[in-house]
Amino acid sequence: MEVLIKDITPENLSDIPEGCRSCIYWEFPEDFEKARVMEQNKKLQFCVGKKKDWFLKTLKEFGNCGEIVYYNDRPIGYAQHAPSTRLPQAQNYEAKCLGKPEEAIFLSCLYIPDKTMQGKRIGTRLLKHIINDSKKRKFRAIETFARKGSSNNPSGPIEFYLKEGFYVKEELSPEYVLVRLDL
Ligand SMILES: CC(C)(COP(=O)(O)OP(=O)(O)OC[C@H]1O[C@@H](n2cnc3c(N)ncnc32)[C@H](O)[C@@H]1OP(=O)(O)O)[C@@H](O)C(=O)NCCC(=O)NCCS
Repeated sequence: MEVLIKDITPENLSDIPEGCRSCIYWEFPEDFEKARVMEQNKKLQFCVGKKKDWFLKTLKEFGNCGEIVYYNDRPIGYAQHAPSTRLPQAQNYEAKCLGKPEEAIFLSCLYIPDKTMQGKRIGTRLLKHIINDSKKRKFRAIETFARKGSSNNPSGPIEFYLKEGFYVKEELSPEYVLVRLDL
């Protein structure tokens, strides 16, 4: 099978899998709430526009901040990462020891939406790609909020991270933990 991981650029923004392309949960928490009550078409237009603005600004000011996974040219996976200050929803999890934005990459999303493509090590390939990219860029750590007892979480379940050498840095609730990989 032909699996390709490509960085997100202004040219392939529209390949971000549906659902993720219009999700502004991490980037704009207030607008995310505001959009909840909008009529469906208006909501879609608003959120897709906001997401696009976030990527264009972050790519320009920070650099690579996401990937799309393609399987035979079809987008089947997505990841998003940046310093936590650029993903303000991270502050709302009230983690006491979230890494400093200048040294730690915050992985907000890592998702293989197509169920038939899950469990084939594609998520692991994507995570390893992000680890390598972050090392090259001299970041000291990658952090994410992982979920216990369920994989239904923007970046997936805790097991996925522990398997790749992440450790639990902070227990946030019975369900959520902040996990970290030192690079
Ligand atoms: C979680 C996810 C990113 C993992 O990617 P993947 O390619 O399916 O997983 P991999 O094949 O690379 O699995 C590697 C390891 O991660 C862990 N893992 C993967 N999926 C898991 C799951 N659903 N529950 C628990 N552990 C899991 C396992 O330890 C696995 O190793 P094993 O197969 O030897 O047990 C992917 O399955 C996914 O996106 N699932 C949907 C999650 C979701 O609902 N997200 C909502 C987003 S808004």
